[in-house]
Amino acid sequence: MEMYRRTWAEINLSHLEHNIQLIRQGFPQDTFFCPMVKANAYGHGDVKVSQFLETLGVKHLGVCLIEEGLLLRQLGVKADVLVFRGFDSKGAVKMFENQLTPVVSTWEQLDILISLKQPTKIHLKFDTGMNRLGFEVAEVADVRARFKEQSHLQLEGVLTHLYQSEDGLDPNGETVEQIGRFLNVWEVFKDYSEFFHVLNSGGIVCKMSGAQGVLAQQNWGLRPGLLIYGYNPVSESKLDFKPVMTLQSRTNLIRDIKTGEGVSYGHTWKASRDSQVAVVPIGYADGWHRILSNRAEVLWNGQRAPIVGSICMDYLMVDVTGLSHEKENEVIFVGRSEKTGEALPATEAAEKAQTIPWEILTSVGERVPRLYKNK
Ligand SMILES: Cc1ncc(COP(=O)(O)O)c(C=O)c1O
Repeated sequence: MEMYRRTWAEINLSHLEHNIQLIRQGFPQDTFFCPMVKANAYGHGDVKVSQFLETLGVKHLGVCLIEEGLLLRQLGVKADVLVFRGFDSKGAVKMFENQLTPVVSTWEQLDILISLKQPTKIHLKFDTGMNRLGFEVAEVADVRARFKEQSHLQLEGVLTHLYQSEDGLDPNGETVEQIGRFLNVWEVFKDYSEFFHVLNSGGIVCKMSGAQGVLAQQNWGLRPGLLIYGYNPVSESKLDFKPVMTLQSRTNLIRDIKTGEGVSYGHTWKASRDSQVAVVPIGYADGWHRILSNRAEVLWNGQRAPIVGSICMDYLMVDVTGLSHEKENEVIFVGRSEKTGEALPATEAAEKAQTIPWEILTSVGERVPRLYKNK
């Protein structure tokens, strides 16, 4: 691809494959497996990632919006696509037309599917504590009764979503309690639904790390998001997931700044010595949050260097005084430099931006091209 601006996100598909295989090895039995490709596959490019996952034999994919599902269909993705966000009747028709699978979270949605009489697979979501989407656990018998009469609705899965899955190793944690509540739902639907899916990245890692009790006692289905993109949210776990994205720029624009001179809007940084400051073509409009101004580091030809001054819409500046300069300097924001092996994980930027790696990855903007490596 031709790029006039030297900023892009390299997406390493062999790392994606490695992460998928690592999860599969942890669940050798036949387990429902639905990687989440919503939000542009966590910033990695939903169409390409979905197409690649299909080549790995993935049968289910998860999106939030009907629009996301439509895009996958338009570009030839054949896997079952679960739409998690919900729908109105217009949306339901769109889903039928495009063989998207509705995840049903409310009576209203269930009534829409009943009244439309269209044969479809569905998944039913129950709220076990997240307090976001899903039927109440107390409603499970009523849902079952209402559902029983509808032969055109094929129940493929029943699910819940964990709100603190990182604590799954703690027998007294919230996750164990949540899954305990979900067991009531399982009990009612166990003879009717093919799958019961519960585990997001944190839950998957906890189960792979030997969690016992309710986490281990069923073959709970998997909906990994962050994990397949190479980030493990469970700090105690040392499983070897590999980051898939390397966000990077190239620049040769370096300015000499005299002691006392300021850089960028508001001169929030002033040189305490004669300095060399590189101008790098990425900014907050590309998802490199302004809060990282004067806080985060980059890898400059493989060595750490601080971002100085306020991050602009299209640029940021880096103090590269005393560092090596090349004809085209490599600047990495997230990922590992092959020059030195030094890494800057998305978790580091997240900490500095007072956010989470999910937000760092999904923020990478539309105007940053994704280049796919190791197809
Ligand atoms: C319903 C549902 N399942 C699974 C996931 C994946 O979560 P994670 O990225 O923590 O694996 C999400 C993400 O927000 C979600 O909303």
